[in-house]
Order: sequence, then C-alpha cells, then structure tokens
Amino acid sequence: MAGSPTAEGRQAIRILAPAKLNLGLRVVGVRNDGYHCLESVFVPLDWADELWVEAVPNRTPEVDFEMKRAEDAVQTRAIEIPDGEMNLAHRAVRGFIEASDCSLAVRIRLTKRLPAAAGLGGGSSDAGAVLRALNQLLPGCLAPERCRHLACELGADVAFFLDPRPALVTGIGEQIDPLEDWPILHLLLANPGDALSTPEVFAAWDELSVSLTQSRSGSTLGPLSALRGASASAIWDPLAELVVNDLEPAAKRLCPGLSGVMDQLSQLGARVVGMSGSGATVFGVYESLEEANKAQSQIALGGTGWSRLARTLSAG
Ligand code: C5P
Repeated sequence: MAGSPTAEGRQAIRILAPAKLNLGLRVVGVRNDGYHCLESVFVPLDWADELWVEAVPNRTPEVDFEMKRAEDAVQTRAIEIPDGEMNLAHRAVRGFIEASDCSLAVRIRLTKRLPAAAGLGGGSSDAGAVLRALNQLLPGCLAPERCRHLACELGADVAFFLDPRPALVTGIGEQIDPLEDWPILHLLLANPGDALSTPEVFAAWDELSVSLTQSRSGSTLGPLSALRGASASAIWDPLAELVVNDLEPAAKRLCPGLSGVMDQLSQLGARVVGMSGSGATVFGVYESLEEANKAQSQIALGGTGWSRLARTLSAG
C-alpha cells in the first residue's frame, strides 16, 4: 500500500483487497435475528482485487466509482457484480462519509480479479480495503470503534478485512483474534463454477441441522494450539482436525458437483481438503508449490469450473 499527494489537499493510495480462506468453519449457535454464530480460522491469500482510492477533503460529499475486470479475473457464472451504488465498496465509501466528521469527495477505481459468491470474501474485502485506505489517508476522521461498527453494518465478515491477517473469528464474524506464528500453506483452490448464495447455504444448514449433531463452542481451539508455531511436518494432523466446515453438507445439497471436486483434490495428493466459507470454492493443502502445481495440471473441471494456485499470507 502506498500513499501519495496528487495535488494540494488530495491524497491517493493503491491498496490490495485479498481473498480469504476459511480453514474450518463451525456453526455453534443461531441468534434470534437468524444470524449464525461461528468459529472459524480466516487466512488472507496472495490473490487480490486492487483499488485506487483518492480522497479530497473539504469538498461537497461525492463518490466517483468505477469498476473494471482485470484480464486475469475469474468470474462466477450468472453473477453480475454491481458496478454502481450497490457495490459494497461504494457503500463503504458512503458509510465512511456519513459516519465521519469530515466532508470529502472520494474517487475509487476498483479492479476485480476475485470471483463473487465463491466463499472467498471478495466483496467484503473490497469494502474493508476502502475503509483501511480512507483511514490511512484521513487519520482521525473516523474513530476506530465507529469504523468497526460500520464494517459490521456492511457485512458480517467485513471487520476481518480491516486488518487481514490469520485470525480466529467468532461471533457472527465480527470478533477477531489474530493468530501469530501461523504456518504458510500451499493451496490449490477449485470451484465447479456455480455461484452459491451465502443466505441460501445458511438456510439449507437450518433445514439440515435438525438432523445433524451441532458443533460445540470451543471445538476449534484444540487443533489451533497444536498448529501455531508447529514444524512443517507436524501440521497435518491438527490441520485435518481444524478443516471441518459445518456448512459443507448444506453447500453440497445446493451444488452436488462439489463432492467430485473435493475427491479429485484428495486423489491428486492433497494432504487436507476443505471448503471455504459457504462455498463453492474448495481447496487442497499440498506439501509444496510443486505438488499443488502438479495437481492443477491434472484436475478436470467442467466448462465453467476454475482452479487457482494460492498461498496463505501472514498479513494482508
Ligand atoms: O452479513 P452478510 O450480508 O455478509 O450476510 C449475508 C447473509 O448470510 C445474512 O443475511 C445471513 O442470512 C447469512 N449469515 C448468517 N450468519 C453469519 C453470516 C451470514 O446467517 N454469521
């Protein structure tokens, strides 16, 4: 991230909005408002959207927003990412202007690379990046507590993207405890190409959960302590224990093709296989980049499916 004055009073910054992966996701309760209480390890990935954010203070509040697709963007079939006021990055700017004590005009150029409705947090990450950028350009304009509140209003997992680094995430996604000494993982991400709507996956979980044993709060903590600071050879058993996603049966009900993709990742040498968020992106964790690369060259996904190599980051 780099900030630079572009003219008197103007400040601009280029910022990356990384995808996140959920290494395990346990549903540990349901709130009265229907939101689900979670326990999950969120990690940022080296795959990101890109934003250019320019702020001009002491101006009539105004948002100038443009979105374009990167040449290497991955798109989800049948999903049109809103390119105007409904875009979450646009809403984050308006929220910042309304909640802050500053009058400012903001120009945003968003380059999309991450697929939507894929369980990777792309839209939330754009919103988090906008708030990070504006906080850096205009320190003191929005108190940290108000900024966190705004992030939660924009979406359950936007708060993670205010400072994307490996973290244990609880509540409905807004309680974040950073994890130090987190191992770097080599991944192959794969997706059959179908969009999965988060509310629909949670609703399918509600229906199925009657017949499923619910996770107990705290089930994530055992493997977590074994993983932190572990040597490369000692990560696999606790990682396999951690990477359990309670939303997987619900996602597979809505997207039956997921099982076959996960089976392929295992057959192609993944030590651990899991699903991110509410899907439909699944991942294999490999011993090395070479192993992940070999798996990618052999995986067979239908016409709309995609795969991508990725690495976890220790900070976004
Ligand atoms: O907060 P956000 O807009 O990202 O969430 C989208 C939908 O996903 C919510 O309206 C809710 O149906 C569901 N959700 C949930 N529990 C969470 C997060 C999201 O039920 N912890």
